[in-house]
Amino acid sequence: MIRKATSEDMPILLEMERRCFADRAYTGEQIRWFLNSENSATFISFRENRVAGSMMLSLRGRRGKVVSVGVMPEWRGKGIGKELMVCAEEWFSTSGVREVDLEVNVNNHEATIMYSSLGYRKVRILKKYYQGREDAYLMRKKLPKVK
Ligand SMILES: CC(C)(COP(=O)(O)OP(=O)(O)OC[C@H]1O[C@@H](n2cnc3c(N)ncnc32)[C@H](O)[C@@H]1OP(=O)(O)O)[C@@H](O)C(=O)NCCC(=O)NCCS
Repeated sequence: MIRKATSEDMPILLEMERRCFADRAYTGEQIRWFLNSENSATFISFRENRVAGSMMLSLRGRRGKVVSVGVMPEWRGKGIGKELMVCAEEWFSTSGVREVDLEVNVNNHEATIMYSSLGYRKVRILKKYYQGREDAYLMRKKLPKVK
């Protein structure tokens, strides 16, 4: 089950960030900004009544951005990441988005494979994107037109 997060979910989201992204975790202040922004949406995925994953999305006109996707280590490899991405594309489509962008660390093979398998293509390398040190791929996907 996936549902939209609210400000009451802050402890869940902080825990997700801590366990999925460690020293690159978004802060409470950053998460609150996404929760309060009209152009963003945050979702939480549950399995067996437990928190399994979360993601933050944002909009800029007809362009969408996957800000972060994380699945709890004990729930990985069970299709939750893909399920979150399908939910992301549904939300983007209903919000009028035509093209989705995301950045992923060039060394993050699991995530790069997941995004590629969903149709995201590498556009270019963003040098020293993470903390001025590590490179990222900018990946992009065109969404089909909604009838
Ligand atoms: C990347 C991440 C979200 C994937 O979530 P997940 O629930 O484990 O992924 P899924 O089970 O839905 O797998 C989706 C696809 O990703 C690929 N994949 C996932 N884990 C993989 C692994 N360990 N090795 C190779 N490919 C992998 C596969 O193509 C898989 O599709 P398939 O099962 O049909 O072959 C998860 O590993 C994670 O939270 N990582 C830490 C945070 C992160 O790096 N987030 C992304 C950057 S913002």
